[in-house]
Amino acid sequence: MKTALITGGTAGIGRVTALALARKGYRLILIARDPDKGNALAERIRHDVPGADVQFYAVDLSDFEAVRAVASEIRGNTDSIQLLILNAGLYTRRHRLSKSGHEFMFATTHLGHFLLTHELLPLVRQAENPRIIVTSSVAHHVASLIRFFPGIEHPTKSRMRVLAPLLSYGRSKLANLLFVRSLAEHLQADGIQVNAFHPGGVRTELWRSTPGLFNRMIDPFLIDAEEGADTQIFLATDPAVSQSGQYWCRRRRDLTSLRSRSRNLRDRLWQYSEEALGISEFGHPQEEKASA
Ligand SMILES: NC(=O)c1ccc[n+]([C@@H]2O[C@H](COP(=O)([O-])OP(=O)(O)OC[C@H]3O[C@@H](n4cnc5c(N)ncnc54)[C@H](OP(=O)(O)O)[C@@H]3O)[C@@H](O)[C@H]2O)c1
Repeated sequence: MKTALITGGTAGIGRVTALALARKGYRLILIARDPDKGNALAERIRHDVPGADVQFYAVDLSDFEAVRAVASEIRGNTDSIQLLILNAGLYTRRHRLSKSGHEFMFATTHLGHFLLTHELLPLVRQAENPRIIVTSSVAHHVASLIRFFPGIEHPTKSRMRVLAPLLSYGRSKLANLLFVRSLAEHLQADGIQVNAFHPGGVRTELWRSTPGLFNRMIDPFLIDAEEGADTQIFLATDPAVSQSGQYWCRRRRDLTSLRSRSRNLRDRLWQYSEEALGISEFGHPQEEKASA
C-alpha cells in the first residue's frame, strides 16, 4: 500500500485531498494540531472508505522538537512515503513568535516543513516515483514589498498594522517557493518530483483570522475546498505531471515573482534554515553540483 503524508490534512484543502487519496487506496498519515478534528476525520475516513488505513498525529509544526519526535515515530512504523504533501499553513492576525523565537507563520509553513522533509527524506527515497507537493500561494508576491532578510527573525514592521500580518504571510509563502526550487534541484538525481502550487482563493478556516470586513469583501470570489484541492490532487497523482521545481495554478504552470527566482535568496534561505534547525547534512545543491 502506498503512503501519503499530508500536513494540514484535517481541514480545508488538505482534508479534501486526504479523502480523495484514501479513496484511491493510499495509506494516510495526517499531521495537524487539533486532536479532536484529526481523530474525527480519521474516523470519518475509516467509515466512508472501507479498509482505509489512517493515522493522525497531533503536532504543531512550529515546535521543532515535536516535529523530530513524530518523524522518528513515523520512521519506525513506515517503509516508504510516496507522497509528501506539505500543506499546513495559517494566518495569524497578530504578530506571534514560535517556541524557537521565529515569526509563527514562517516557523510553521517553512521551517517546520523544511525539518519534516529532512527527517523523512530516507522514507521518500524508498518509494517508487515519489512526489513532494508544497502549498504556496499567490500571496508570495506581496513579499516583494519587504526585505526578506533579516525580517525573518523579527516582526514585519509596517505603519499600517493591518498590513504587517499579510506581509509576514506572504514571506512564509515566498519561503515555500524558494524551498521548492532548491529542493527540486537537490533531489533531481534521485528522481523525486517537487512542485509548489497556488490553490486559488479558497473558502476555508484560514480566513477566520483575517479582518471581518476584508472577509465579507472577498467571500463572493472564493472557491470551495474541492476546487481548491484539485491542483494538489493533480500534482500528487496525475501521471502526466513530469516537471519538477515548478509553480502551478489550475493545473497549469504559472508565473512567480522575480524574487522567488533569485538564486542568492534561495541559497541564503537554505543556509539560514539549516542553521536555525541545526541541520548539517541536508546538503547544498550548488556545492553538490560543483563537486560532481
Ligand atoms: N484558503 C485559501 O484561499 C488559500 C490560498 C492560498 C494558499 N493557501 C494555503 O493552503 C494551505 C491550506 O490552507 P487552508 O486554506 O486549507 O486552511 P485551513 O482550512 O485553515 O487548513 C489549514 C490546516 O493546517 C493545519 N495547521 C495550521 N497551523 C498548523 C501548525 N502550526 N502545525 C500543524 N498544522 C497546522 C490546520 O490544522 P490545526 O489548526 O488543527 O493545526 C489545518 O489542518 C495553507 O498552506 C494556506 O496557506 C490557502
